Amino acid sequence: MITLSNVTMTFGNHPVLDDIFLQIKPGEFVFLVGQTGAGKSTLLRLMYMDILPTEGIVSVGKYSSSNIEKREKPYLRRTLGIVFQDYRLMEDRNVFDNVAFTLHVTGEKSKHIKKKVLHALGDIGLAHQRNKMAHELSGGEQQRVVIARALVNSPLFLLADEPTGNLDPGTSHEILQLLRDINTRGTAVIMATHNYDLVRRTNERIVQVKNGKVYDVVMK
Ligand SMILES: Nc1ncnc2c1ncn2[C@@H]1O[C@H](COP(=O)(O)OP(=O)(O)OP(=O)(O)O)[C@@H](O)[C@H]1O
Ligand SMILES: [Mg+2]
Repeated sequence: MITLSNVTMTFGNHPVLDDIFLQIKPGEFVFLVGQTGAGKSTLLRLMYMDILPTEGIVSVGKYSSSNIEKREKPYLRRTLGIVFQDYRLMEDRNVFDNVAFTLHVTGEKSKHIKKKVLHALGDIGLAHQRNKMAHELSGGEQQRVVIARALVNSPLFLLADEPTGNLDPGTSHEILQLLRDINTRGTAVIMATHNYDLVRRTNERIVQVKNGKVYDVVMK
C-alpha cells in the first residue's frame, strides 16, 4: 500500500501539493493526470522518497517518510519499479546488460541475474533482442527495455512518469497495453501522463492533480 496523508509539498514558498490524501492499493492501475506543472512528477518522487514531504507522511509498505534512513532507500526502491523520462538506457551496453545493471549494484549472484533478466525481457517481448546495443533499438523498444529494467526486481508497484512522452500514438498504445499486461500479472501501475487520448474511455482509476489537490475522476 502507498499512502500519502496530510501531505503538503512546498518548493521555496510555492506550494505544489496542499494537504492531500491519496492511497494506492496493491494491484491497482492508476493514471495521474493534470496540466503541466500541476505536480504529477512531484507526487511520484514523493512515493519513491526521492524528496520528502514538507508536511505530512508518505508511507510505502513498511517504509515511512517520517523515519526512513538513507541506507533503507535501496530496499524501498526494490519494491518500486521506476520508469522516469530522464532515466535513459546506457547507449554503449546491450539490452541484457542494461536490465542487469541494477542487480549487479545490489550484489546479486550471476546465475540469479541471468534468470531474472531473461524473465523480465520475456515479459516485455524482447528476449530475442538481448544482445543488441541500446542505440540499435527504436524508441518504443528502448522504452520496453526501460520497463524491463524497472521490473527486474519484481516490484509491487511500477511508477511511470510520462512513459509515452516521446513516442508516436501507435507505439504509445503498445506501451500502455504492455503496462496493462504487467498490471494483470499483479504489479500495481501508477502512470503520470498528460496524454488525454490515452485515458479517454478507460476503465482504470484516474486521479487528477489540480491546484494543489488530488481528485478521483469519474468518467461519464
Ligand atoms: N526541485 C524543485 N524545485 C523547485 N520547484 C520545483 C521542483 N520540482 C518541481 N517544482 C515545481 O513544482 C511544480 C510541479 O512540478 P511537477 O514536475 O511535479 O509537475 P508535472 O505535473 O509533473 O508537470 P509536467 O506535466 O510538465 O511533467 C512546478 O511548478 C515546478 O516548477
Ligand atoms: Mg512531470
